[in-house]
Amino acid sequence: MPLIGQQLLSSQKINQLIQDLTTEVEKTNQQLTGIKAPANEFQENGKKWMDLAGQFRGRPLHYPYMGSGAGRGPYVELEDGSIKLDLINGIGIHLFGHSHPRVIKAALKGAIMDVVIQGNLEPNKEYVAYTKKLVELASKKSNIKYAWLATCGTMANENALKLSRQKKSPARMILGFKNAFAGRSTMMAEVTDNPAYKQGLPDYNEVLRIPFFDRKDPQSTDKSLRALKEHVEKHAKNISVFGFEPMLGEGGYMPANREFFVPLLEFCKSQGIAIWADEVQTFTRTGELFAFETLDIGKYIDLVTIAKTAQLGATLYTEEYNPKPGLIAGTFSGSTVSMHTGMEMLDMLVNEGYLGKDGRIMQIHSQFISGLEKLGATTCQGKVSDACGMGLMLAFTPFEGKKEQVDVFLKKLYNNGVIGFPCGKDPVRARFLVPACIQDADIQVALSVIEKTLQEGVA
Ligand SMILES: Cc1ncc(COP(=O)(O)O)c(C=O)c1O
Repeated sequence: MPLIGQQLLSSQKINQLIQDLTTEVEKTNQQLTGIKAPANEFQENGKKWMDLAGQFRGRPLHYPYMGSGAGRGPYVELEDGSIKLDLINGIGIHLFGHSHPRVIKAALKGAIMDVVIQGNLEPNKEYVAYTKKLVELASKKSNIKYAWLATCGTMANENALKLSRQKKSPARMILGFKNAFAGRSTMMAEVTDNPAYKQGLPDYNEVLRIPFFDRKDPQSTDKSLRALKEHVEKHAKNISVFGFEPMLGEGGYMPANREFFVPLLEFCKSQGIAIWADEVQTFTRTGELFAFETLDIGKYIDLVTIAKTAQLGATLYTEEYNPKPGLIAGTFSGSTVSMHTGMEMLDMLVNEGYLGKDGRIMQIHSQFISGLEKLGATTCQGKVSDACGMGLMLAFTPFEGKKEQVDVFLKKLYNNGVIGFPCGKDPVRARFLVPACIQDADIQVALSVIEKTLQEGVA
């Protein structure tokens, strides 16, 4: 007889029940067929939920978004009866959109296990299976050897910083890009280069800034390298790590190429400075699983952090950075549902034609970007510029990229049925974290709503 735990997962009866449940949910969700305005009969209900959110969390929600629990691919139903084309997906969590049947099935399998949340003291086998999977996937193009699960991107980043600091102890300084974002803990707010996110917090002065790539400046790579060398000259042995996003996320979705990164990484290596790629936002989105693969810089990487689409956080690292016992632990590693769904989504990405230069992710990317460029060249001249990004991370600058303009544009876009979000400072851009399940027809819907909204103007 197999273990009882194994019987739970292989039982024909349980699997049939899971299949039936998923089919029923799918059938019900088939009523979601496209964008819909709020319904009169539910407007009061929607408002009630918005008021409650404001009342109990102390401030209103950014959008009047309150999910009803029903969704279908890129479409989501809200409590006010509206259906939105969701191109931000909880800031990039739902890689396969809403209510994907395979994700539901995986979630149900996770939900019938004996514990809701797993930790590193008494884990179940999913904990190890997921850790193994991440290491195997990351180590194809890098020297990554271990992974440590955590609950979110910020915690994964904290662990990466601790590992690199311990290795270079007592060095305390961190090299980071201007306009970087790293999370919301005290230390990650310090690594983040946005004063609005740390009002009233003390400044620890532990981060040395380097300008990110500016594709309009032919001297950009030289300038960044020079800034890096100046910091290293001044702070010599007191620098522990260079932490960077392969493309700035909150910082504006302007991509950099391999040629920009290599001299910086070579120099850090020559100085014994740890190299940490914060892939919390880029993981699974750039056409390969890791952006370090897309950029072909895997051989330089000492530490990588992921979260969002992974459904939990993780710090991945090489043999050299395996910390001394006691440095990292924590009660939560992630929910059993997160582990099942995270692994399922990775299987889908790897085995079903999403990755690679001609994979579905890059097809979505080029359809979106060429659609936006076409709008800028035809019906929306002067209203669309710099349409670019990496894979499923896409952005453009609406109008002149002024904050007030982009805020108005995105609110109108939301009211017209498409959800995006701002990023960057100067210019401010409209960004989309497009789900990998989006169909060509839905991309056309998104483009036509964007066109209509741009034409409405932002006066
Ligand atoms: C690049 C980057 N690092 C870290 C984080 C923080 O992740 P979390 O919000 O899961 O703590 C984010 C979140 O947006 C991010 O984009």
